[in-house]
Amino acid sequence: MPKLCVMEGDGIGREVIPAAVQVLRAVMPDLEVVPAEAGWACFQKRGTSVPDETLEAIRECGAALFGAVASPARKVEGYRSAIVTMRQALNLHANVRPVRSWPLASSRPGVDLIIVRENTEGLYAGRERLEGDDTAIAERVITRAASERVARTAFELARSRGRRRVTIVHKANILPLTDGLFRDTVRDVATHYPEVEVDELLVDTAALWLIRDPTRFDVVVTTNLFGDILSDAAAAWGGGLGMAPSLNWGDGVAVAEPVHGAAPDIAGQGIANPIAAILSGALLLRHVWGRPAEADAVERAIGATLEAGLRTPDIAAPGADTTSTEGMTGEIVQRLQA
Ligand code: NAI
Ligand code: MG
Repeated sequence: MPKLCVMEGDGIGREVIPAAVQVLRAVMPDLEVVPAEAGWACFQKRGTSVPDETLEAIRECGAALFGAVASPARKVEGYRSAIVTMRQALNLHANVRPVRSWPLASSRPGVDLIIVRENTEGLYAGRERLEGDDTAIAERVITRAASERVARTAFELARSRGRRRVTIVHKANILPLTDGLFRDTVRDVATHYPEVEVDELLVDTAALWLIRDPTRFDVVVTTNLFGDILSDAAAAWGGGLGMAPSLNWGDGVAVAEPVHGAAPDIAGQGIANPIAAILSGALLLRHVWGRPAEADAVERAIGATLEAGLRTPDIAAPGADTTSTEGMTGEIVQRLQA
Protein backbone atom coordinates (compact mmCIF):
# COMPACT_ATOMS: atom_id res chain seq x y z
CA MET A 1 0.00 0.00 0.00
CA PRO A 2 1.51 3.39 -1.01
CA LYS A 3 2.23 5.70 1.91
CA LEU A 4 2.44 9.48 1.77
CA CYS A 5 3.93 11.75 4.42
CA VAL A 6 1.94 14.99 4.29
CA MET A 7 3.38 18.29 5.55
CA GLU A 8 1.03 21.17 4.95
CA GLY A 9 3.53 23.72 6.29
CA ASP A 10 2.54 27.40 6.49
CA GLY A 11 0.16 29.82 4.79
CA ILE A 12 -1.64 28.50 1.70
CA GLY A 13 0.16 25.16 2.19
CA ARG A 14 -2.69 24.41 4.59
CA GLU A 15 -5.20 25.03 1.82
CA VAL A 16 -3.59 23.52 -1.28
CA ILE A 17 -2.09 20.38 0.26
CA PRO A 18 -5.43 18.98 1.51
CA ALA A 19 -6.74 19.64 -2.03
CA ALA A 20 -3.87 17.63 -3.54
CA VAL A 21 -4.44 14.77 -1.08
CA GLN A 22 -8.12 14.73 -2.03
CA VAL A 23 -7.20 14.34 -5.71
CA LEU A 24 -4.60 11.64 -5.00
CA ARG A 25 -7.18 9.70 -3.00
CA ALA A 26 -9.58 9.89 -5.94
CA VAL A 27 -7.12 7.97 -8.14
CA MET A 28 -5.48 5.91 -5.38
CA PRO A 29 -8.11 4.95 -2.81
CA ASP A 30 -5.66 2.72 -0.92
CA LEU A 31 -3.27 5.64 -0.23
CA GLU A 32 -2.21 5.80 3.41
CA VAL A 33 -1.59 9.34 4.66
CA VAL A 34 0.87 10.08 7.48
CA PRO A 35 0.65 13.71 8.66
CA ALA A 36 3.85 15.43 9.86
CA GLU A 37 4.98 18.89 10.95
CA ALA A 38 7.45 21.22 9.20
CA GLY A 39 7.88 24.94 8.65
CA TRP A 40 7.97 28.26 10.42
CA ALA A 41 4.99 27.67 12.71
CA CYS A 42 6.61 24.36 13.64
CA PHE A 43 9.89 26.18 14.42
CA GLN A 44 8.13 28.67 16.67
CA LYS A 45 6.41 25.87 18.56
CA ARG A 46 9.19 23.29 18.64
CA GLY A 47 12.46 25.17 18.02
CA THR A 48 13.14 23.29 14.77
CA SER A 49 11.64 23.69 11.29
CA VAL A 50 11.90 19.94 10.57
CA PRO A 51 11.68 17.71 13.68
CA ASP A 52 13.53 14.39 13.57
CA GLU A 53 10.28 12.43 13.61
CA THR A 54 9.22 14.26 10.43
CA LEU A 55 12.44 13.19 8.66
CA GLU A 56 11.83 9.67 9.96
CA ALA A 57 8.24 9.67 8.66
CA ILE A 58 9.39 10.85 5.21
CA ARG A 59 12.03 8.10 5.06
CA GLU A 60 9.51 5.53 6.23
CA CYS A 61 6.91 6.52 3.62
CA GLY A 62 9.43 7.05 0.81
CA ALA A 63 7.18 9.78 -0.58
CA ALA A 64 6.11 13.11 0.84
CA LEU A 65 4.06 16.12 -0.15
CA PHE A 66 5.08 19.46 1.29
CA GLY A 67 3.15 22.77 1.13
CA ALA A 68 5.35 25.78 1.76
CA VAL A 69 7.17 27.55 4.52
CA ALA A 70 6.97 31.19 5.47
CA SER A 71 10.66 31.86 5.97
CA PRO A 72 11.73 35.07 7.74
CA ALA A 73 13.75 37.39 5.44
CA ARG A 74 16.35 37.99 8.18
CA LYS A 75 18.61 35.60 9.98
CA VAL A 76 16.81 34.08 12.99
CA GLU A 77 19.11 32.26 15.42
CA GLY A 78 18.68 28.49 15.11
CA TYR A 79 16.29 28.65 12.16
CA ARG A 80 16.97 26.92 8.87
CA SER A 81 14.59 26.73 5.95
CA ALA A 82 12.53 23.56 6.21
CA ILE A 83 12.86 22.61 2.56
CA VAL A 84 16.62 23.22 2.44
CA THR A 85 16.97 21.13 5.61
CA MET A 86 14.98 18.29 4.05
CA ARG A 87 16.96 18.45 0.81
CA GLN A 88 20.24 18.08 2.66
CA ALA A 89 19.15 15.68 5.45
CA LEU A 90 17.43 13.31 3.00
CA ASN A 91 20.00 13.88 0.26
CA LEU A 92 17.32 14.90 -2.23
CA HIS A 93 19.88 15.44 -4.95
CA ALA A 94 17.73 16.56 -7.86
CA ASN A 95 14.89 19.02 -8.15
CA VAL A 96 12.66 18.26 -11.11
CA ARG A 97 10.46 21.07 -12.40
CA PRO A 98 8.33 20.44 -15.47
CA VAL A 99 6.73 23.36 -17.28
CA ARG A 100 4.05 22.78 -19.90
CA SER A 101 1.36 24.70 -21.67
CA TRP A 102 -2.20 24.78 -20.32
CA PRO A 103 -5.38 26.15 -21.87
CA LEU A 104 -4.93 29.53 -20.22
CA ALA A 105 -4.40 32.98 -21.70
CA SER A 106 -1.35 33.40 -19.44
CA SER A 107 0.26 30.17 -20.67
CA ARG A 108 2.41 30.04 -23.81
CA PRO A 109 1.51 27.33 -26.34
CA GLY A 110 3.88 24.54 -27.33
CA VAL A 111 5.96 24.49 -24.13
CA ASP A 112 6.91 21.12 -22.67
CA LEU A 113 10.20 21.29 -20.81
CA ILE A 114 11.71 19.93 -17.61
CA ILE A 115 14.34 21.78 -15.58
CA VAL A 116 16.45 19.41 -13.49
CA ARG A 117 18.43 21.29 -10.91
CA GLU A 118 21.16 20.13 -8.54
CA ASN A 119 19.57 20.43 -5.14
CA THR A 120 22.12 20.02 -2.34
CA GLU A 121 25.12 22.25 -3.02
CA GLY A 122 26.16 25.12 -5.30
CA LEU A 123 25.54 28.55 -3.81
CA TYR A 124 22.91 27.05 -1.47
CA ALA A 125 25.44 24.87 0.35
CA GLY A 126 24.86 27.12 3.37
CA ARG A 127 28.49 28.26 3.66
CA GLU A 128 27.94 31.92 4.42
CA ARG A 129 30.10 33.98 6.74
CA LEU A 130 31.02 37.52 7.69
CA GLU A 131 34.57 38.79 7.50
CA GLY A 132 34.56 41.88 9.64
CA ASP A 133 31.51 44.12 9.52
CA ASP A 134 31.50 45.02 5.85
CA THR A 135 32.18 41.83 3.92
CA ALA A 136 29.89 38.85 3.60
CA ILE A 137 31.01 35.72 1.75
CA ALA A 138 29.10 32.74 0.37
CA GLU A 139 30.99 29.73 -0.96
CA ARG A 140 29.73 27.92 -4.03
CA VAL A 141 30.39 24.20 -3.79
CA ILE A 142 30.37 21.91 -6.83
CA THR A 143 31.33 18.23 -6.47
CA ARG A 144 31.77 15.56 -9.09
CA ALA A 145 29.53 13.19 -7.10
CA ALA A 146 26.55 15.57 -6.91
CA SER A 147 26.98 16.68 -10.53
CA GLU A 148 27.03 13.06 -11.65
CA ARG A 149 23.89 12.19 -9.66
CA VAL A 150 21.88 15.07 -11.04
CA ALA A 151 23.12 14.33 -14.56
CA ARG A 152 21.99 10.71 -14.26
CA THR A 153 18.56 11.84 -13.12
CA ALA A 154 18.30 14.22 -16.07
CA PHE A 155 19.35 11.61 -18.64
CA GLU A 156 17.20 8.84 -17.11
CA LEU A 157 14.25 11.21 -17.23
CA ALA A 158 15.03 12.13 -20.82
CA ARG A 159 15.29 8.48 -21.82
CA SER A 160 12.23 7.25 -19.94
CA ARG A 161 10.04 10.07 -21.25
CA GLY A 162 11.20 9.68 -24.83
CA ARG A 163 12.81 13.09 -24.84
CA ARG A 164 15.35 14.12 -27.41
CA ARG A 165 17.73 16.53 -25.80
CA VAL A 166 19.45 17.52 -22.58
CA THR A 167 20.77 21.08 -22.41
CA ILE A 168 23.54 21.75 -19.87
CA VAL A 169 23.24 25.27 -18.45
CA HIS A 170 26.31 26.72 -16.72
CA LYS A 171 28.66 29.71 -16.54
CA ALA A 172 31.98 27.98 -17.08
CA ASN A 173 33.43 31.00 -18.89
CA ILE A 174 33.41 32.98 -15.62
CA LEU A 175 33.53 30.05 -13.19
CA PRO A 176 35.86 27.63 -14.99
CA LEU A 177 36.67 25.47 -11.96
CA THR A 178 33.22 25.00 -10.43
CA ASP A 179 31.04 25.14 -13.52
CA GLY A 180 33.79 23.53 -15.59
CA LEU A 181 33.61 20.53 -13.27
CA PHE A 182 29.82 20.49 -13.50
CA ARG A 183 29.77 20.73 -17.30
CA ASP A 184 32.49 18.12 -17.83
CA THR A 185 30.89 15.68 -15.39
CA VAL A 186 27.49 15.97 -17.11
CA ARG A 187 29.21 15.45 -20.48
CA ASP A 188 30.86 12.26 -19.12
CA VAL A 189 27.48 10.92 -17.98
CA ALA A 190 26.03 11.80 -21.39
CA THR A 191 28.31 9.29 -23.08
CA HIS A 192 26.21 6.52 -21.46
CA TYR A 193 23.08 7.86 -23.18
CA PRO A 194 24.01 7.99 -26.86
CA GLU A 195 20.33 8.17 -27.88
CA VAL A 196 19.92 11.54 -26.13
CA GLU A 197 21.32 14.64 -27.82
CA VAL A 198 23.37 16.99 -25.61
CA ASP A 199 24.03 20.67 -25.96
CA GLU A 200 25.03 23.48 -23.63
CA LEU A 201 24.24 27.14 -23.02
CA LEU A 202 25.66 29.81 -20.76
CA VAL A 203 23.08 30.69 -18.14
CA ASP A 204 22.49 34.24 -19.35
CA THR A 205 21.93 33.04 -22.91
CA ALA A 206 19.66 30.31 -21.56
CA ALA A 207 17.58 32.98 -19.79
CA LEU A 208 17.18 34.89 -23.05
CA TRP A 209 16.14 31.75 -24.92
CA LEU A 210 13.71 30.70 -22.21
CA ILE A 211 11.88 33.97 -22.81
CA ARG A 212 12.35 34.21 -26.57
CA ASP A 213 11.58 30.61 -27.50
CA PRO A 214 10.89 28.17 -24.65
CA THR A 215 9.82 25.52 -27.17
CA ARG A 216 13.52 25.06 -28.01
CA PHE A 217 14.08 23.33 -24.62
CA ASP A 218 13.42 19.75 -23.70
CA VAL A 219 15.34 18.68 -20.54
CA VAL A 220 17.62 21.27 -18.91
CA VAL A 221 20.22 20.29 -16.30
CA THR A 222 21.90 22.95 -14.19
CA THR A 223 23.33 23.95 -10.81
CA ASN A 224 21.28 24.95 -7.78
CA LEU A 225 20.95 28.75 -7.99
CA PHE A 226 20.69 28.93 -11.78
CA GLY A 227 18.01 26.25 -11.73
CA ASP A 228 16.08 27.99 -8.99
CA ILE A 229 15.89 31.25 -10.93
CA LEU A 230 15.38 29.80 -14.42
CA SER A 231 12.63 27.45 -13.24
CA ASP A 232 10.63 30.24 -11.60
CA ALA A 233 10.96 32.30 -14.79
CA ALA A 234 9.97 29.31 -16.95
CA ALA A 235 6.96 28.71 -14.68
CA ALA A 236 5.40 31.83 -16.18
CA TRP A 237 4.87 29.92 -19.46
CA GLY A 238 2.80 27.33 -17.64
CA GLY A 239 0.47 30.00 -16.27
CA GLY A 240 2.43 31.15 -13.23
CA LEU A 241 3.30 30.01 -9.73
CA GLY A 242 -0.18 28.65 -9.08
CA MET A 243 0.44 26.07 -11.83
CA ALA A 244 4.08 25.07 -11.14
CA PRO A 245 4.89 21.70 -9.51
CA SER A 246 8.22 20.22 -8.41
CA LEU A 247 9.75 17.02 -7.15
CA ASN A 248 12.80 16.76 -4.88
CA TRP A 249 14.35 13.43 -5.70
CA GLY A 250 16.68 11.25 -3.64
CA ASP A 251 17.56 7.57 -3.33
CA GLY A 252 14.39 5.77 -2.27
CA VAL A 253 12.77 8.98 -1.09
CA ALA A 254 11.10 11.94 -2.78
CA VAL A 255 9.42 15.11 -1.59
CA ALA A 256 6.97 16.79 -3.97
CA GLU A 257 6.12 20.45 -3.44
CA PRO A 258 4.50 23.26 -5.37
CA VAL A 259 7.12 25.79 -6.47
CA HIS A 260 5.24 28.65 -4.80
CA GLY A 261 5.69 29.81 -1.22
CA ALA A 262 3.28 30.45 1.64
CA ALA A 263 1.61 33.41 -0.15
CA PRO A 264 0.83 35.44 3.00
CA ASP A 265 -1.07 37.99 0.88
CA ILE A 266 -3.88 35.50 0.15
CA ALA A 267 -3.48 32.89 2.92
CA GLY A 268 -6.68 32.04 4.79
CA GLN A 269 -8.95 33.36 2.06
CA GLY A 270 -9.67 30.02 0.39
CA ILE A 271 -8.71 31.35 -3.05
CA ALA A 272 -5.25 29.81 -3.58
CA ASN A 273 -4.82 27.86 -6.79
CA PRO A 274 -4.50 24.17 -5.81
CA ILE A 275 -3.23 23.05 -9.24
CA ALA A 276 0.52 23.42 -8.48
CA ALA A 277 0.06 21.17 -5.44
CA ILE A 278 -2.13 18.71 -7.36
CA LEU A 279 0.43 18.51 -10.20
CA SER A 280 3.12 17.90 -7.57
CA GLY A 281 1.07 14.92 -6.42
CA ALA A 282 0.91 13.77 -10.05
CA LEU A 283 4.74 13.82 -10.14
CA LEU A 284 4.71 11.32 -7.25
CA LEU A 285 2.25 9.15 -9.18
CA ARG A 286 4.38 9.24 -12.31
CA HIS A 287 7.92 9.05 -10.99
CA VAL A 288 7.75 7.54 -7.51
CA TRP A 289 4.76 5.21 -7.41
CA GLY A 290 5.03 4.09 -11.04
CA ARG A 291 1.45 5.04 -11.86
CA PRO A 292 1.76 6.98 -15.13
CA ALA A 293 -1.84 6.23 -16.16
CA GLU A 294 -3.15 7.86 -12.97
CA ALA A 295 -0.75 10.79 -13.45
CA ASP A 296 -2.05 11.26 -17.00
CA ALA A 297 -5.63 11.09 -15.73
CA VAL A 298 -4.98 13.84 -13.16
CA GLU A 299 -3.34 16.08 -15.77
CA ARG A 300 -6.20 15.45 -18.20
CA ALA A 301 -8.78 16.31 -15.52
CA ILE A 302 -6.92 19.57 -14.83
CA GLY A 303 -6.81 20.37 -18.56
CA ALA A 304 -10.54 19.67 -18.93
CA THR A 305 -11.39 21.79 -15.88
CA LEU A 306 -9.42 24.71 -17.34
CA GLU A 307 -11.01 24.14 -20.78
CA ALA A 308 -14.38 24.44 -19.06
CA GLY A 309 -13.32 27.93 -17.97
CA LEU A 310 -12.79 27.43 -14.24
CA ARG A 311 -10.29 29.90 -12.82
CA THR A 312 -8.90 30.78 -9.43
CA PRO A 313 -8.12 34.53 -9.24
CA ASP A 314 -4.40 34.13 -10.02
CA ILE A 315 -5.10 32.67 -13.48
CA ALA A 316 -8.28 34.60 -14.30
CA ALA A 317 -8.59 37.43 -16.78
CA PRO A 318 -9.34 40.77 -15.07
CA GLY A 319 -13.02 41.00 -14.23
CA ALA A 320 -13.75 37.34 -15.05
CA ASP A 321 -15.65 35.01 -12.71
CA THR A 322 -13.47 33.04 -10.34
CA THR A 323 -13.79 30.00 -8.13
CA SER A 324 -12.27 28.99 -4.79
CA THR A 325 -9.61 26.43 -3.90
CA GLU A 326 -12.39 24.02 -2.96
CA GLY A 327 -14.40 24.81 -6.08
CA MET A 328 -11.46 24.10 -8.39
CA THR A 329 -10.53 20.91 -6.52
CA GLY A 330 -14.11 19.63 -6.58
CA GLU A 331 -14.33 20.11 -10.35
CA ILE A 332 -11.07 18.24 -10.91
CA VAL A 333 -12.13 15.34 -8.65
CA GLN A 334 -15.50 15.17 -10.38
CA ARG A 335 -13.82 14.83 -13.78
CA LEU A 336 -11.61 12.06 -12.41
CA GLN A 337 -14.63 10.14 -11.22
CA ALA A 338 -16.65 10.69 -14.40
P1 NAI B 1 4.96 33.20 -2.92
O1 NAI B 1 5.14 32.12 -3.90
O2 NAI B 1 4.46 32.79 -1.58
O3 NAI B 1 3.95 34.29 -3.52
C1 NAI B 1 4.26 35.09 -4.66
C2 NAI B 1 2.97 35.65 -5.28
O4 NAI B 1 2.30 34.60 -5.97
C3 NAI B 1 1.97 36.16 -4.23
O5 NAI B 1 1.30 37.27 -4.75
C4 NAI B 1 1.02 35.00 -4.07
O6 NAI B 1 -0.27 35.37 -3.67
C5 NAI B 1 1.01 34.38 -5.45
N1 NAI B 1 0.79 32.91 -5.37
C6 NAI B 1 1.72 31.97 -5.03
N2 NAI B 1 1.16 30.75 -5.04
C7 NAI B 1 -0.13 30.91 -5.39
C8 NAI B 1 -1.23 30.02 -5.55
N3 NAI B 1 -1.11 28.70 -5.37
N4 NAI B 1 -2.42 30.54 -5.90
C9 NAI B 1 -2.58 31.86 -6.09
N5 NAI B 1 -1.59 32.75 -5.95
C10 NAI B 1 -0.38 32.29 -5.60
O7 NAI B 1 6.35 33.96 -2.77
P2 NAI B 1 6.76 35.16 -1.79
O8 NAI B 1 5.61 36.09 -1.60
O9 NAI B 1 8.01 35.67 -2.33
O10 NAI B 1 7.08 34.47 -0.40
C11 NAI B 1 6.13 34.32 0.67
C12 NAI B 1 6.71 33.43 1.73
O11 NAI B 1 6.88 32.11 1.21
C13 NAI B 1 8.08 33.88 2.22
O12 NAI B 1 8.13 33.67 3.61
C14 NAI B 1 9.04 32.97 1.49
O13 NAI B 1 10.23 32.75 2.23
C15 NAI B 1 8.23 31.70 1.40
N6 NAI B 1 8.60 30.84 0.25
C16 NAI B 1 8.67 29.50 0.49
C17 NAI B 1 8.95 28.63 -0.54
C18 NAI B 1 8.95 27.17 -0.22
O14 NAI B 1 8.46 26.76 0.82
N7 NAI B 1 9.47 26.31 -1.09
C19 NAI B 1 9.21 29.10 -1.90
C20 NAI B 1 9.06 30.53 -2.07
C21 NAI B 1 8.78 31.35 -1.01
MG1 MG C 1 12.39 29.28 -5.91
